[in-house]
Amino acid sequence: QWSVLHKFKGILFSTMSSEELLNSLDCFDAREDDVFLVSYPKSGTHWIAEVIKNIPNARITLTSPIELGDISKFEELKTYCERRVIPTHLSYDMLPTNVKQKQCKVIYIIRNPKDTAVSLFHYYRENPNLPGIETWNEFFELFLRGDVVYGSWFDHVLSWEEHKNAQNILIIFYEEMKTDLSKNIKKITTFLGLNLTDGEINMIARKTSFSEMKNNAVKENCDPNHTICALTSNRRLVFRKGAVGDWINYFTSKQKRVFDELFTEKMKHSELAGHFGEYS
Ligand code: A3P
Repeated sequence: QWSVLHKFKGILFSTMSSEELLNSLDCFDAREDDVFLVSYPKSGTHWIAEVIKNIPNARITLTSPIELGDISKFEELKTYCERRVIPTHLSYDMLPTNVKQKQCKVIYIIRNPKDTAVSLFHYYRENPNLPGIETWNEFFELFLRGDVVYGSWFDHVLSWEEHKNAQNILIIFYEEMKTDLSKNIKKITTFLGLNLTDGEINMIARKTSFSEMKNNAVKENCDPNHTICALTSNRRLVFRKGAVGDWINYFTSKQKRVFDELFTEKMKHSELAGHFGEYS
């Protein structure tokens, strides 16, 4: 069952991301107006994607993830005439060089790691494209070691944090989306250079609420052309609970202690770490 994943440069990827494609990422032809929607899995990627999809008159095409598929990916991406929004779970180091050279805009969504771990645990259990896992305790160990798809949460976040002050990078927090969705929709649209009315922003907020998205996912068929996550095109697997703080129902007090110790050690130079204090 582990054959659904393979290791590339020491990091686990889905076998739906072919080794050939991963090896050729630097051949990707970036356009200056490309936008990358970047995240560690289960951090709220579909949520931001839905916000972007609902911007009126944005003239944007949301593509499937850059690392999903085989080498024909780049030909497919060339066929889009509109501004491309390209999702990815890649760490900063693996992002194609010319995306960095052209300073394409990047929206990085980040979620507190305990909730991210719990969400990924459920994804491992429900998603046939991920290895089966028996227990939370077993998964907790894998997550701590970074022995999960896309590697360690800490390494991913730290690779992007290094560039957090770049003009072309916008960092959005899942927890802040939960507290004030409209404010964050405004941040995202302003960052994309789009001017929306308050009415339009409120309309997007209504359409991207958890219940709205969950209900629509049940109606939508699996359309491989609308895949946001490189780990599934089945949207019904994505909308589980959509809550902040669900980790408390899974972590034992010992696990919390072990996790907090690792967090403190790994994130000792991180400014973003401060954001998570109130969620742990
Ligand atoms: P849970 O498993 O905790 O419910 P991604 O899109 O990166 O795969 O992240 C999926 C997580 O984001 C899931 O978390 C999902 O429920 C949550 N999510 C998706 N849309 C959401 C929304 N509109 N509001 C709140 N959470 C949302």
